[in-house]
Amino acid sequence: MQLATPFTRMKSSFIREILAAAQDPDVISLAGGLPDEKTFPVELLKPTIDQLTSDLNLFQYGPTQGYGQLVGHLNKRYQLPEHHKLLVTTGSQQGLDLIARAFINPGDKVVLEAPSYLGAMQVLNFVQADIVPIAQNVEGPDLNVLEQCFVRHQPKLFYAVPDFHNPTGLSWPLATRQAVAKLCLRYQVTFVEDAPYRPLRFTGDTLPMVSSFCPDQALVLRSFSKIASPGMRVGAVSGPGHWIDPLIKVKQGADLHSSLPIQAMLLGLLEHPGFEQHVANVCQLYRGRYAVLHNALKHLETFGCFTQPIEGGMFVWLTLPECDTFTLAKTLLDQGVATVPSDVFYSGQKGVSALRLNFTNSSPESLKEAVDRMADVIKLL
Ligand SMILES: Cc1ncc(COP(=O)(O)O)c(C=O)c1O
Repeated sequence: MQLATPFTRMKSSFIREILAAAQDPDVISLAGGLPDEKTFPVELLKPTIDQLTSDLNLFQYGPTQGYGQLVGHLNKRYQLPEHHKLLVTTGSQQGLDLIARAFINPGDKVVLEAPSYLGAMQVLNFVQADIVPIAQNVEGPDLNVLEQCFVRHQPKLFYAVPDFHNPTGLSWPLATRQAVAKLCLRYQVTFVEDAPYRPLRFTGDTLPMVSSFCPDQALVLRSFSKIASPGMRVGAVSGPGHWIDPLIKVKQGADLHSSLPIQAMLLGLLEHPGFEQHVANVCQLYRGRYAVLHNALKHLETFGCFTQPIEGGMFVWLTLPECDTFTLAKTLLDQGVATVPSDVFYSGQKGVSALRLNFTNSSPESLKEAVDRMADVIKLL
């Protein structure tokens, strides 16, 4: 049987290759985007898990929009306006997929930061969106370029990760957030704000979301993968009700609904008095690891490498002297360090030479050792 057309546009997954090689115990993996499993809040989940079987309704089919009590809790937690709705999804990745399937026709223009989240490019390529890249600077997109892009392409969506971006780790300052919202309102472009790393701030002040400045022109994707567990696969998408309703219809066809027992587990976790402390502990652990990696990477500056400081999240973006980043990543893998080359995060254009480094799932000793191994390779560039 012949594959559907969108498959012909999919790149062979170099990342999957790297992640498979990273299973080797001799390889230090800075490649994945994994939380440290020691942070999984199993103790906080236990009381709810013990209670689960006393509610048989949780083991029945349920509403597509999500487990009612969880939906209610999240509405309050995010202080959604009356006319907004929230849909519980199987990870925030599903939210993105539903948005693409509900709203994008082949050839529709969608603006994406360059570099951008690989999973977003995959989803958008699958619905045959016409991806328009916008370069990402330290302070987010250049606003003049973004405006020209909106005028020229009249895109349907602008998808971005303003908090602790994947892959760069950078966050947009307040002025960028306000200005992007203004442009989205002026040119009627829907802003899709993907915020899986937002709770992982380990320094500086929390900034308002972009969508808070254009609530009726935005859809917001949330994830519990980084503060609860990725294996639970719970996320949410929220926005104006008339945009969430079509997503509910598409989800019905996709999986009827996300697992009710898991949604009940998440609710128990979010309502547990120890939850906020749990998130603070995760941030503290990651702050320490980031500091170790950041300090170690300073030694690579003599070889023309550079990193921007970050305030949270899971990734550091190490820019390099101009090179073939795929070849470099392969050489590093041979030396026992898995990283992700920058090229995979660009859609069809050549980006800067860089590596994405994850610091949340390696011990401080491993992080230092990884940078020592990297130095031996990078000094020869
Ligand atoms: C920017 C971004 N969006 C979405 C996701 C998917 O998250 P989830 O596990 O909630 O599906 C990830 C996962 O790493 C991500 O980096």
